[in-house]
Amino acid sequence: MSKTVVLKCGGSTVHQLSESFFQSLKALINNNWNVMIVHGGGPDITNMLKALKIETEFFKGQRKTTEDVLEVAEMVLAGKINKLLTNVLQDKGLDAIGLSGSDGGLLKANYLDKEHLGLVGEVTSVQTSVVSLLMDNGYIPVVAPLARTVENETLNVNADLAAAAIANAVSAEKFIFVTDVPGILDGNKQLIEEITPSEINTLIESEVITGGMIPKVQSALATLSDNCQEVIIASGQKAIIEDGHFTGTKIVKGMEVSTS
Ligand SMILES: Nc1ncnc2c1ncn2[C@@H]1O[C@H](COP(=O)(O)OP(=O)(O)OP(=O)(O)O)[C@@H](O)[C@H]1O
Ligand SMILES: [Mg+2]
Repeated sequence: MSKTVVLKCGGSTVHQLSESFFQSLKALINNNWNVMIVHGGGPDITNMLKALKIETEFFKGQRKTTEDVLEVAEMVLAGKINKLLTNVLQDKGLDAIGLSGSDGGLLKANYLDKEHLGLVGEVTSVQTSVVSLLMDNGYIPVVAPLARTVENETLNVNADLAAAAIANAVSAEKFIFVTDVPGILDGNKQLIEEITPSEINTLIESEVITGGMIPKVQSALATLSDNCQEVIIASGQKAIIEDGHFTGTKIVKGMEVSTS
């Protein structure tokens, strides 16, 4: 049976994915992995909001989403970035199908914090049948992070959290955050090759891990399981597989402390 790898491509890196990144995807597919991608789009949403003179604010790292902001976010995520990524994958000879999380009941969500964040969702369930159908037939599903409530309202979802919910739901063996840095960097800006949850918490407390890296590591921790034993953070500007090994930072469950 094929194993599944979910990649989250940051909005910060979708315009700069390297040839070696696409070669790595081909290597995964040739090695019988099912591949799916969830993408962000933060910088493009910010630029479009600016062009349209729509105010935008952040609360605890997430974008406050009014009706006007949601209209732009949906347009940019499902229209611009989703098509850009799907097209470039196809240009590289990879069969990709673009979807919004709001299509086919893929992502269901509740309001995360309506008072402070407005139309932002927290994923409550993932209907995996559509993406499984596509992967079983050799396609790479490319998902924009939007979801629907049970009342059929569309909500904006943080892409790291959407990807984690999907990785859990499809029981992915690997979960890779593709971003604009080589991985988690330590206080001296050196790449950390392997890190455990408790070491991550120490780096958050000491403010070495900040900003957009926080939802990423939190999503990673929420995905580690017996099935998904490592989550990787790697750069989209480089190969994500070199000599048969994944590059970047590997977040691993760590040794369990014996109480006996
Ligand atoms: N310890 C750290 N190591 C590496 N990067 C860090 C660290 N702490 C904070 N960061 C920041 O996290 C950023 C990556 O997260 P960011 O949210 O900007 O990108 P993304 O999630 O890939 O894109 P998007 O949010 O647009 O989908 C890096 O560019 C860096 O500035
Ligand atoms: Mg981010």
